[in-house]
Amino acid sequence: MTEKIRLAMVGGGPGAFIGAVHRLAASMTDRFDLQAGAFCRDAEASRAFGRELGLASARSYGSYQELLASEAALPPAERVQCLAIVTPNDSHAEIAIAALAAGFHVLCDKPAAGCLEDALRMQAAVEASGQLFGLTHTYTGYPLVMEARDRIAAGALGELRRVHVSYLQDWLSREEDTRGSKQASWRNDPARSGESGAFADIGSHAFNLVEFMSGESITAVAAQLRSVVPGRTIDDDGSALFSLSGGAQGLLAASQVCTGSVNALKIELFGTEGAMSWQQEQPNTLVLKRRAEPDTILHANMDYLGASARAVARTPGGHPEGYLEAFANIYQAFAEAVTAFPEAPQPRGFASIDDGVAALRFIRAARLSSQQGSAWTELAAIERKSL
Ligand SMILES: NC(=O)c1ccc[n+]([C@@H]2O[C@H](COP(=O)([O-])OP(=O)(O)OC[C@H]3O[C@@H](n4cnc5c(N)ncnc54)[C@H](O)[C@@H]3O)[C@@H](O)[C@H]2O)c1
Repeated sequence: MTEKIRLAMVGGGPGAFIGAVHRLAASMTDRFDLQAGAFCRDAEASRAFGRELGLASARSYGSYQELLASEAALPPAERVQCLAIVTPNDSHAEIAIAALAAGFHVLCDKPAAGCLEDALRMQAAVEASGQLFGLTHTYTGYPLVMEARDRIAAGALGELRRVHVSYLQDWLSREEDTRGSKQASWRNDPARSGESGAFADIGSHAFNLVEFMSGESITAVAAQLRSVVPGRTIDDDGSALFSLSGGAQGLLAASQVCTGSVNALKIELFGTEGAMSWQQEQPNTLVLKRRAEPDTILHANMDYLGASARAVARTPGGHPEGYLEAFANIYQAFAEAVTAFPEAPQPRGFASIDDGVAALRFIRAARLSSQQGSAWTELAAIERKSL
């Protein structure tokens, strides 16, 4: 049996959201063993939480700095091999850069960083270290999203003409939503969330999904970002027109003030020969459309799907899979990359730091565009401009 990969976690302490999802996803793969962690900024609470998770006291650390120094001092066969970073956006860069420099692989949650400059520093650190870096863009872990990507790459839609993606939530639609929830409070604080609110939090997923499924890059954007709820200093709602590298155009909406929308991520891609539609709240169906023909509905985990989708199926057809399995698929791909390191398995199976930089560049371009009356803004020129 292959030895498990020794994993550490930074963030994901008591009451945190995504850290628990990472721990479940890692354990679903049966490839990781969580051996160390620094789970929150309060040193004593962090150590106590590590022990609660069953970690050895000596490896339940009070800070990520202590974790990196102590783990790096252990013999190579004992120290952790990689870190999952599940802290708010503002600290991703400092933790990831320190971890990479100390010789650890990093699997970080999105957005890569709070701002474009930090994401660029992370990109340089990944290159300098030669270590692996992955971003957990959850939705690329769904089997039918992989199926759509493969079919589009094989020409199923003909020439791509239009992409519509919307990611709508309502959990920040009221003024009081920001009070009393730690998830809401840091997301609405520019010092913690970074240069954007909803566009970074969920727009980054929508951006990544467009590029992942289409196989193209977003090259220009004309956007309007707004703070709808009184007193908010960061965007909670926004829309963008965008151009794709192959000539198609699209629409991206990201909003956390859409009453009645819980986690409504939907993407539609239209080409000369057909269209495809997938939504996160019904992730086990992919709808294919052709002019003047009945729709075709593909179901997850069926033998008629392609190799990528079948390779990640965990249950027999008709037994629904969802968010946790998609997350586990990203962990599984990261496990394969760690095991094969320094070889690079293809396809990689998880988003890279380049994808993370691209998302932050898109966010910066959208903000610039919005400030200039929704003027079309080229992503390629973005590092030469400042807000
Ligand atoms: N992939 C997804 O679908 C998805 C979903 C939700 C959140 N996220 C991302 O995950 C990250 C965390 O979001 P969340 O909702 O879990 O936040 P959260 O507030 O629920 O949890 C953050 C945790 O990090 C800890 N923390 C903060 N700074 C720390 C530090 N310096 N050292 C150690 N621990 C520290 C906090 O104490 C807390 O336990 C964000 O970047 C967010 O964008 C991704």
